[in-house]
Amino acid sequence: MTDRILCVCLGNICRSPTAEGVLRARLPDHHIDSAGTGDWHIGKPPYGPAQAAALTRGYDLSGLRARQVSRADFHRFDLILAMDSENHADLARMAPEGARAALAMYLDPLGGGDVPDPYFTRDFEGALDLIEQAAHLWAARLRGASG
Ligand code: 4NP
Repeated sequence: MTDRILCVCLGNICRSPTAEGVLRARLPDHHIDSAGTGDWHIGKPPYGPAQAAALTRGYDLSGLRARQVSRADFHRFDLILAMDSENHADLARMAPEGARAALAMYLDPLGGGDVPDPYFTRDFEGALDLIEQAAHLWAARLRGASG
């Protein structure tokens, strides 16, 4: 069973909360969460432009609050999805012995690679496009896996 999924980016205010909102919409029976490898934005809602872009496609991210990923998350979740290769490397470094969670790239269903960080690129629509495409494929996989 792969019911508990954690999306992880750097700040937890752009890419991973967007992925959380999009995956929740497609997998309403799964437990979906997000976190950041960094600690700068703990307790903050998703970045305004990321929220606005998501809302135009029907995803309300306003209730989400940033938190930092912890070693305990590797025991609480079945699958941890890194939004880019730096996030993946940071997660692989902190993974405890005997971790329950599998670690993968969020874009693996699209052949891998990074979701470019819109906080820096300012391309919030492009990030959402990628996040939605991969979410569609994750949902097909995971519904099959747990159904
Ligand atoms: P995210 O974007 O990792 O997609 O949430 C970022 C937002 C803020 C910062 C870095 C990445 N920052 O350094 O403040």
